[in-house]
Amino acid sequence: MKILAILSQKGGAGKTTLALHLATAAEAAGKPCAVIDLDPQASAAGWKDTRPAETPVVVPLPHSRLTAGVQAAREGGASLCIIDTAPHAEGAAMAAARAADLVLIPCRAGILDLRAIGATADFVKIAGKRAFVVLNALPPRASHILNDAREAVAVHGIDVAPVTLQQRAAYGHALTAGQTAPEYEPGGKAAEEIAALRDWLFAELQL
Ligand SMILES: Nc1ncnc2c1ncn2[C@@H]1O[C@H](COP(=O)(O)OP(=O)(O)OP(=O)(O)O)[C@@H](O)[C@H]1O
Ligand SMILES: [Mg+2]
Repeated sequence: MKILAILSQKGGAGKTTLALHLATAAEAAGKPCAVIDLDPQASAAGWKDTRPAETPVVVPLPHSRLTAGVQAAREGGASLCIIDTAPHAEGAAMAAARAADLVLIPCRAGILDLRAIGATADFVKIAGKRAFVVLNALPPRASHILNDAREAVAVHGIDVAPVTLQQRAAYGHALTAGQTAPEYEPGGKAAEEIAALRDWLFAELQL
């Protein structure tokens, strides 16, 4: 089982959106996935409560129980365990980074968002883990933003994932309905992005 931590000390960057979309996309590709929700607000677990489908498994836990949660996911037959975390929560971010094989840091492309990555990058460095920034909610035709973002992120010694997610209403609408964007709008642009991100992630994790 591979473990993916999704971290960002900044609120609203897209952690839960990314966690639930990747988990559902992994399931759709035949890889059982467990999501561990370390956020006391339990947004991922709340989504699961409204979801008609049985998968993915979503388990809300305090970070002091993370090791046991990961072990339970492994024993339950998960191929992938995704840890969703809260913003401004150093203990949980550190525990998730330590447990992870790979860390994804979602980030909106504004310069203030990009500069705030340093706080999250520190956890990755201390834990000695591989990490990528996933640029999220990009406006259309954002190629200049992409170059600026790569430079801003490189300062922290972290690469930008080659797949980015655009700002799309389907991401928000789908989660409200206990779904993900590819389920809400099959064949749509969000579905393409998520499949590309999953395929890239699977290659990085050798999954
Ligand atoms: N690519 C996107 N396009 C449109 N809306 C998005 C996108 N990504 C995230 N959102 C919306 O932005 C808001 C914040 O996203 P999300 O809850 O995933 O962030 P978060 O990092 O988990 O937040 P928190 O730090 O509070 O846990 C949500 O309303 C979500 O629907
Ligand atoms: Mg969240």
